[in-house]
Amino acid sequence: MFKKRTVRDIAVKNKVVLLRTDYNVPIQRGRITDDYRVTASLPTIEYLLEHGAKQVVIISHLGRPTGKERDFSLEPVAKRLEKLLRMPVYFQTSGKTIPSEPKIVMLENLRFDKGEEAGSASFAKKLIAQTKAELFVQDAFGLVHRAHASMVAITKLLPSVAGLLLEKEVDSVTKTMARPKRPLIAIIGGVKVEDKQPLIDLFAKTADTVALGGRLGINFNNTAGNVIVPLDYVYGKDGEPYDIGAISTATIVDLVKQAKTVIWNGVVGKVEEREFAEASKVIAEEIGLSDVTSLILGGDTSSFVLDLKTHDPELEYTLVSTGGGSALELILGKKLPGLDALPNKAK
Ligand code: 3PG
Repeated sequence: MFKKRTVRDIAVKNKVVLLRTDYNVPIQRGRITDDYRVTASLPTIEYLLEHGAKQVVIISHLGRPTGKERDFSLEPVAKRLEKLLRMPVYFQTSGKTIPSEPKIVMLENLRFDKGEEAGSASFAKKLIAQTKAELFVQDAFGLVHRAHASMVAITKLLPSVAGLLLEKEVDSVTKTMARPKRPLIAIIGGVKVEDKQPLIDLFAKTADTVALGGRLGINFNNTAGNVIVPLDYVYGKDGEPYDIGAISTATIVDLVKQAKTVIWNGVVGKVEEREFAEASKVIAEEIGLSDVTSLILGGDTSSFVLDLKTHDPELEYTLVSTGGGSALELILGKKLPGLDALPNKAK
């Protein structure tokens, strides 16, 4: 069970609510190319509005700017949110007090102020003074592994609860890891073994089978009996392997067919190039059309699966995570300052 207090455990009526989301979305030439993190935040915003919040002030970071850089403005996100909610979103760039009339307000990128990443309490105080917030809602699952001001310091200054997205993601992952329906298969793709080694080690112990994809399998020294590596690859013109081959894909598909739970992190080929996306596509379709419990974790895997889903809405996954690093740290049982900072439910 999710241990933290959530928006359901507190009265929001007539309150000014400060809502932390993770709107770190890919933007190319001013256009959002994947708005999943924005759509995933809607249930919490809608909950707050339906339960009579006086005003919802949304705060987020975008990218890793070194100061106030125009390319990192959250303005395109405010515009997208306006379309999705079908109501005005007042976008405030300055640090001035915000007007009380707009129902939804979005502030400019938190990382334009150095205090955010430094975890500064005075930056958190400034945000509260500017917004006159009375309650803080944490819904930025993708950032719970960071101890930034809007993740930790702010929770010391305002009554704080978790939002619905944070609750859903943490709950799905922790429940599945604690009591997986078996067989549990973990599919781990990627390029560098070093990056994925802790995950491989964990699943070698907890999963029934671990199937490696991408280039991971090439240099992998197989010590655990339940870790399988690709047997064949699809090569590019330069002779390099860019996707796993038909035999290896069929092996993973067979494992998915027998599984009751699939946890997938990391596409198994260079999916940006269509000719090397085939194996990941076949695997994603097999998972999405079967009734296994499926957790899709990590930015590249999530966007790949969501893109397929836009063409084939029949594909269903239990959880397509909005988190990248945070989801993996949660799985690995690491400390998550943004989650730990929130108060537990009353016993
Ligand atoms: C992400 O995209 O994984 C999160 O928004 C975290 O971003 P960061 O790695 O720049 O802190």
